[in-house]
Amino acid sequence: MRITPTYLFVLLCFGFLVYSFTIYIKPSQQIKTQQFDASIAAEGKLIWQKYNCQSCHQLYGLGGYLGPDLTNVYSRKNETIIKGIIGSGVRSMPAFQIPDDEFTKLLEFLKQADASGNADYRNYNVLPNGMIEMQ
Ligand code: HEC
Repeated sequence: MRITPTYLFVLLCFGFLVYSFTIYIKPSQQIKTQQFDASIAAEGKLIWQKYNCQSCHQLYGLGGYLGPDLTNVYSRKNETIIKGIIGSGVRSMPAFQIPDDEFTKLLEFLKQADASGNADYRNYNVLPNGMIEMQ
């Protein structure tokens, strides 16, 4: 069959519709019910910047890529575990000695990030040859 411009146009329209359909059948954003204090979270953002967490972590998909995306870490891990990870460090993450008052603010900031966004968190396996593979 010869590919005429009309045929191509119909094919592209069809492709567009199928692609749009697949996007819209993805599950919509979850509705979060968490409450957070916006002014404490704003102070927490400064703590986040002070310790330069963004250099290794992403929020809403943006930031450094050494560590995982932390947008929804607040609902993935509980506060005690988050505190433990930050205080003692894990693998390539250094330990941070963050005073309790700063930690409370930082946590409020992570709570706000969790309530306001859904990031596509992915888990990877590191293969023996150093390459990574999505779980
Ligand atoms: C030098 C890079 C680096 C910096 C700076 C850094 N992290 Fe990390 N962080 C990592 C890495 C890498 C991991 C993943 C460790 C692993 O499990 O392999 C991680 C893991 C975490 C986790 C656990 C995430 C999960 O889902 O398991 C939390 C929470 C976290 N970091 C918070 C912070 C906070 C808050 C700061 C700023 C105070 C910070 N990190 C600064 C590298 C960093």
